[in-house]
Amino acid sequence: MRQIKSRLAAKFDDEIRFIKGVMSQPKTVGAIMPTSARTAARMASIIDLGSGLPVLELGPGTGVITKAILDRGVKPENLVSVEYSAQFVQHLATKYPGVNFINGDAFNLDETLREFQGQQFDCVISGIPLLNFPMHRRVKLIEDLLKLMPPGRPVVQFSYGPVSPVIARPDSYKIQHFDFVVRNIPPAQIWHYKSLHS
Ligand SMILES: C[S@@+](CC[C@H](N)C(=O)[O-])C[C@H]1O[C@@H](n2cnc3c(N)ncnc32)[C@H](O)[C@@H]1O
Repeated sequence: MRQIKSRLAAKFDDEIRFIKGVMSQPKTVGAIMPTSARTAARMASIIDLGSGLPVLELGPGTGVITKAILDRGVKPENLVSVEYSAQFVQHLATKYPGVNFINGDAFNLDETLREFQGQQFDCVISGIPLLNFPMHRRVKLIEDLLKLMPPGRPVVQFSYGPVSPVIARPDSYKIQHFDFVVRNIPPAQIWHYKSLHS
């Protein structure tokens, strides 16, 4: 009973932290609630543990998807996670020791991933609120991210709209609808973006 109570307290603590983040930076956080554990687990299910490559996470917030990635079996040192908010990073670093949290901008990868220059990743799992950014920046982000992975490995992104948050560029990448998760507030779509040569 005490264990359930402390788990609930930790969950509420994260939700309050998230809501405070929304209130201070509504456009950057771009959601009303943290992603559900169900959505996070579906996103992390794509990780290929046998690839030997690290995973790149974007926009971890309070760490729901970070937890799902670690629960999937990724070692903390094999996770690189980029978060814009310094407050979230401070919290994440104590909650998930060993993970490579970077306080930086996912849209400025050369600078943000300087320490990991030349590194290939198994996949990219993103919680960035793409709909809050202009379309040309979303397209460029996907194209830049695809260069960081072997052919065929995906950028995984959730979104609340009915269509892909990034327009099709059939000469550049493929878009696949992966799942629709009703157990999320609001219900979430999961999308995969892959290079053409896969
Ligand atoms: C919708 S919240 C998702 C949080 C968490 N992953 C989840 O699913 O509950 C978006 C997160 O992306 C972060 N973010 C927004 N723009 C960013 C950027 N350009 N670079 C890195 N992180 C960013 C926000 O600070 C916030 O933590």
